[in-house]
Amino acid sequence: MLCSPMGMTELEKICKKLILFGGKGGVGKTTCAAAAALHFAEIGRETLIISSDPTPSLSDVFGKQVGPVERPIEPFRKLHALEISSDLVLQRWKERYGQEVYEVISSFVPVEYDIVDYVGGAPGIEEEYMLGFILDIVKSGRYDSVVWDTAPAGHTLNLLGMPQRFLSHLEAAVKVYTKVYASLHKLRLALGLSEGKRSALDIINGWKALAKEVMEFITDSSSTEFIITMIPEALGIEVTKRILATLNDFGIKVNNIIINNVITEVDCKLLQARRKMQMEYINRIRSMLDQTTSITIVPMFSYEIRGIDALRQVAGILFTDT
Ligand SMILES: Nc1ncnc2c1ncn2[C@@H]1O[C@H](COP(=O)(O)OP(=O)(O)OP(=O)(O)O)[C@@H](O)[C@H]1O
Ligand SMILES: [Mg+2]
Repeated sequence: MLCSPMGMTELEKICKKLILFGGKGGVGKTTCAAAAALHFAEIGRETLIISSDPTPSLSDVFGKQVGPVERPIEPFRKLHALEISSDLVLQRWKERYGQEVYEVISSFVPVEYDIVDYVGGAPGIEEEYMLGFILDIVKSGRYDSVVWDTAPAGHTLNLLGMPQRFLSHLEAAVKVYTKVYASLHKLRLALGLSEGKRSALDIINGWKALAKEVMEFITDSSSTEFIITMIPEALGIEVTKRILATLNDFGIKVNNIIINNVITEVDCKLLQARRKMQMEYINRIRSMLDQTTSITIVPMFSYEIRGIDALRQVAGILFTDT
């Protein structure tokens, strides 16, 4: 056998709070994430699968309606699903931070509450809050495992860099605030304005603490696991290399790589040729990984993977020793 499936030890390891499935477009992220979520639910873990893909396909894979509200996938008591859209993330951002944003801005200039909508529409806000949004769900304690079917690679890697970028924006905000604070204070006294309930600096520092918390959570290997899904082709290898390098920069170690769509049964010359090509790429992937990264081979099925029975078959491949 070329590579072993994730055995029980690996399974133990990935029974974590947050499990992200990342990779290039169209390589089987949703299929593997859905199979893993189904498996976790069937072994008794309260599980939520989330898709942040702008063109989500969980409804299609499960054959059940999935939408912007967490809801159970019938008939499973422990399996829930949620598709998050930009609108939903922005709406939650406003609920959670709208008042604070208003307090900070209005401590500088007199503005209407509508300013919050304007800030929410700024590029990057949704991405900056996406991880916070998911972390809020994880921290709610409602689920033992939250499986995140991420959008294709570039988008997701960009997301992971957000808390760091957000922190540096906040550092800049603190500097500006500290500079203008003295003159603002004098101005307020002169105009007889009150100081407000909290200082804007307190609020900004609160945001900094949250951004840090998000960063710590996604890099904490005891609670978060990042699984790469790929196919054994040249482009697949290049993208995987890039993902590994970027995750490494964030301090995230990848313990599991799924190689999907592998031809295991050959009954014609065409498949024989493609299998030969795939084996070369699989060997190349092996040689570029260290011994501690486990590779799981998922065969190419003769049919699309849709519905619970097909997902169970994939889960069986991902999670058994045999
Ligand atoms: N091992 C497999 N054998 C046969 N078909 C597969 C296999 N894995 C995935 N597929 C099929 O390939 C298609 C793409 O899979 P999937 O939607 O899981 O990829 P994805 O990485 O989530 O794509 P996207 O980046 O568009 O979200 C689906 O139609 C799925 O049923
Ligand atoms: Mg997908």
